[in-house]
Amino acid sequence: MRMVDIIEKKRDGKALTKEEIEFFVEGYTKGDIPDYQASSLAMAIYFQDMDDEERAALTMAMVNSGDVIDLSQINGVKVDKHSTGGVGDTTTLVLAPLVAAVGVPVAKMSGRGLGHTGGTIDKLESIEGFHVEISEEEFIKLVNDNQVAVIGQSGNLTPADKKLYALRDVTGTVNSIPLIASSIMSKKIAAGADAIVLDVKTGNGAFMKTIADAENLAHAMVSIGNNVGRNTMAIISDMSQPLGRAIGNALELKEAIDTLKGEGPEDLTELVLTLGSQMVVLAGKADSLEQARQLLLDAIKDGSALAKFKTFLENQGGNASVVDAPEKLPTATYHIDYKAKTSGVVAELIANEIGVASMMLGAGRQTKEDDIDLSVGIVLNKKVGDSVNKGDSLLTIHSNQENIDDVIAKLDESITIKDQATAPNLIHKIITE
Ligand code: URA
Ligand code: CA
Repeated sequence: MRMVDIIEKKRDGKALTKEEIEFFVEGYTKGDIPDYQASSLAMAIYFQDMDDEERAALTMAMVNSGDVIDLSQINGVKVDKHSTGGVGDTTTLVLAPLVAAVGVPVAKMSGRGLGHTGGTIDKLESIEGFHVEISEEEFIKLVNDNQVAVIGQSGNLTPADKKLYALRDVTGTVNSIPLIASSIMSKKIAAGADAIVLDVKTGNGAFMKTIADAENLAHAMVSIGNNVGRNTMAIISDMSQPLGRAIGNALELKEAIDTLKGEGPEDLTELVLTLGSQMVVLAGKADSLEQARQLLLDAIKDGSALAKFKTFLENQGGNASVVDAPEKLPTATYHIDYKAKTSGVVAELIANEIGVASMMLGAGRQTKEDDIDLSVGIVLNKKVGDSVNKGDSLLTIHSNQENIDDVIAKLDESITIKDQATAPNLIHKIITE
């Protein structure tokens, strides 16, 4: 087989065979195929697309390019959730113990990553003593005993995707549905998922800016999942404003605790129930989304979700008393209100810009080496659609620096008050097949 023939075939709009796709992925991972040929093929895929069979073959070839986590010792259907990213997205922290409380095994492998706030692990590390450096045996035992555990990323997962994604980033080929969908799905499958729930975000704070694009991506991922034997469902949800009220590590942890107590923000609660219902159905713990939702509501109401969270923290060395005394979490020195300059209705809280403001406070990482400050962040006191009077606090800035002029200037660009505005729809679509 010759790479140049594969490039020409795709350039001319023909479908590649499974063998051709494997030849490319294996050769590129090993370094036998040079970047210039890989980028040429990526550009051909960008213009000519791939059919369902090609997408499934590309996904599995990338899965098989590295280690695959074996979760077969864990009883039950392992359902993983993936979000395409957003600002203040606290869903994993709530979902993991909540679905575990109704019997869904959650074996979460998580990274730290870059972004406006830290990742799930950073947020959990706001709790004194909590750690994710556990052996694979212990991880499996904890999930079998308590249905939920989190382990730090290890192993060499999907090296083909790492290499190809970095190449796409500098060759104008990131924005291709078959390439994005196979990239995301390969990582979930390599991490051991039997079934997958996807939260595809749309809006300015998201990768997919329009609902139509988000829907295309969601359908592409759902069909890849179903074609490779992993039942997959998706939702399209809003990310034009931050989710919930808290953006920051310890702040989001507290928000997660509130939500597990049934006292969380309305939007975060609704999103968690929607995604959680899909997870419960895919795990075979309920026959319908309605029945699943009721199980989850009951687990919040009777305290079993919160109890599950406490046991999870204790199992991994964490001081679970923070659940009843969140004031023990790291707290910033200064709490500064950002006030409305006029009266009216909040029309815009641009998610992306508010994320950048949190990053400027120190809540996130720009490079892998950066330290993050777990205590800082932003708490929204108003959301889009809320009425305000001049001088009302729109949000509270939790900072360890007294001078935050740059943060204020960033927030000035991200907030708009108008005479009229309505809250955006939180969930645009539910995709079950
Ligand atoms: N996120 C991914 O993981 N892969 C892509 O290709 C795009 C976004
Ligand atoms: Ca939040």
